[in-house]
Amino acid sequence: MDSSEQRIRIAVQNSGRLTDHSRDLLERCGLKLTQSKNQLFCYGENMPIDLLLVRDDDIPGLVSDDVCDLGIVGLNVVEEKRLAFENDGRKALFKQVCELDFGHCRLSLAAPEGEEFHGPESLVNKRIATSYVELLKKYLKKKNVAAEIVYFSGAVEIAPQLGIADYICDLVSTGSTLTANGLAEVDVLLESEAVIIQTKAPLNVAKQALIDRILQRLDGVLQVRESKYIMLHAPRAALAEIRALLPGSEAPTVIPLEGVPDKVAIHAVCTETVFWETLENLKAAGASSLLVLPVEKMLA
Ligand code: PRP
Ligand code: ZN
Repeated sequence: MDSSEQRIRIAVQNSGRLTDHSRDLLERCGLKLTQSKNQLFCYGENMPIDLLLVRDDDIPGLVSDDVCDLGIVGLNVVEEKRLAFENDGRKALFKQVCELDFGHCRLSLAAPEGEEFHGPESLVNKRIATSYVELLKKYLKKKNVAAEIVYFSGAVEIAPQLGIADYICDLVSTGSTLTANGLAEVDVLLESEAVIIQTKAPLNVAKQALIDRILQRLDGVLQVRESKYIMLHAPRAALAEIRALLPGSEAPTVIPLEGVPDKVAIHAVCTETVFWETLENLKAAGASSLLVLPVEKMLA
């Protein structure tokens, strides 16, 4: 078999809100990348994994057509393309394999501020500008509302000011684009985040094994994000109470303290955020010498 067939190709957004995070995540999985001069390709130096840098709209198609084995893309794009494929009578040959907990945003309907909105019936016979035609169609159908969809490939938010639309349906993250354009969110169609999709085309054993390894590392990277290693001293009598206070920790290590029979040391990995409040509660329960350390890697 040709050696290029053994390399995994991942489609990643070339410039946009997911770009830096996507690369960062792969690098934290141990992948070392060099970018080609033409900026279209990243070569994996230490693993047979390469990135293809493309427009996010193209990612589901590239994975479906098996040009790329995996893709990192927003759920908003995945769902829009899935519906578009179905409408064209094609099957979307990709499957979602992992949620990445970044790139959180939502696809929402927005109206000029002050415009009254009494639910979907307010949309009857109105014009709605969007790049998400399929997801909007699906929403209107579900709500049993007839409205006119005006397609915009970008800068959807200016449509109402131009008098081309009454409403818009677009991605909202911080909400600042809406505010800057005098618009207010009135309904949410879809909650989105970055996900990994994989081609449904059968992969050879070696390739699938490498994908599984990367997905397992990703899982570890995502898990440690909030994780902390906590060390503290505790009175033996307060052990149960203190264990109950440790956020998201299953089985802490309990170590005797030399020469201090009524106290123990507790070490625990906490998989949830450790707030100052948590530490104060631990102290109030009798804990002392509290130490909180970041966790770099984890393999369950
Ligand atoms: C989206 C959307 C808005 C903006 C909203 O565009 O079309 O313009 O983000 O974000 P905010 O609520 O934080 O202001 P995006 O950056 O994804 O670019 P594109 O859709 O034009 O590719
Ligand atoms: Zn976009």
